[in-house]
Amino acid sequence: MIERVKKYLEEVNSFSSTDALTIEKFRVSYSGKKGILATLFAAFREVPVEEKKAFGQELNVLKNAVSEKIKELQSQLKSTGGKSSISDPTRTPFPIQTGNRHPLSVVKNRIIDIFTQIGFTISEGPEIEDDWHNFTALNLPEHHPARDMQDTFFIQTDPDILLRTHTSSVQVRYMEKNQPPIRTISPGRVFRNEAISSRAHCIFHQIEGLYIAKDVSFSDLKQTLRYFTESLFGNSKIRLRPSYFPFTEPSAEVDIYWGLETEVDYRITKGTGWLEIMGCGMVDPNVLKNCGIDPDEYSGFAFGMGIERIAMLIYQISDIRLFFENDVRFLKQFKGTL
Ligand code: DAH
Repeated sequence: MIERVKKYLEEVNSFSSTDALTIEKFRVSYSGKKGILATLFAAFREVPVEEKKAFGQELNVLKNAVSEKIKELQSQLKSTGGKSSISDPTRTPFPIQTGNRHPLSVVKNRIIDIFTQIGFTISEGPEIEDDWHNFTALNLPEHHPARDMQDTFFIQTDPDILLRTHTSSVQVRYMEKNQPPIRTISPGRVFRNEAISSRAHCIFHQIEGLYIAKDVSFSDLKQTLRYFTESLFGNSKIRLRPSYFPFTEPSAEVDIYWGLETEVDYRITKGTGWLEIMGCGMVDPNVLKNCGIDPDEYSGFAFGMGIERIAMLIYQISDIRLFFENDVRFLKQFKGTL
């Protein structure tokens, strides 16, 4: 009998585990109601009187060893933060994968933040548009050659209905419903019938800006754009290059100074150091008139940019198609950015 107790003692002393479930099994097998200790104490009563003392002593040694061992293992488990494998009904059985925003949403939200901080509201319009809002009201009457600048998807049964080619259509809708002062930006999807390549896609995203009030001048436009590019890209220079858009006069394209430090800088700026990021200009008086705003009383500026283009610059992405493939290995890289 004493031999058996000694064997148990050896087993207890050499037992070790970092797994909560194994430790718990060990505890139950020794100290549980029907465990080894309980069985041995029950057997103690049967032990002949002359052996009782020695057996009792051994039994107490074993009992203490068991409780010491359990204490030691449990405190070890706590300090190493050992993961309990005892089923916890409040715990999920597998690690939950948290998602993240799409990089286009991250960039769009950042741009929205920058403009809402200076009082711009957000407005939206329909993706299926009519000719008036997408073209005619924007000073692009029928047969105007500039309509070819944007290859349009028409709804076959009705040539008057199309997928909007730019978010400038929202300008028109907004001015038709609101009188100045107007300060609004319009993010949204736009569609063009273009061959898909690393630089072009037939669905993409734009943000349009519109500011109409009394005495708005070109310098207000410039200052607003400076504030925007500084907030988004850091302290970088911009330049405005004369350009043409039917809905603005004068019109300009905005370049930011990207620099010429690396080979990539050379490639993406074609050796100039400058990158075009948007179009802008003073809203053409014809457009104001078309939308019911008196051009003798009010003036304003507008600008429009592609969100993909800005995101490609910020994150140095060379293929626009990556935004639309929704490969999680690509998307995951933008967690917590901007
Ligand atoms: N709508 C133009 C485009 O899609 C972008 C644009 C240029 C918008 C100049 C404007 C602007 O408001 O003033 O290419």
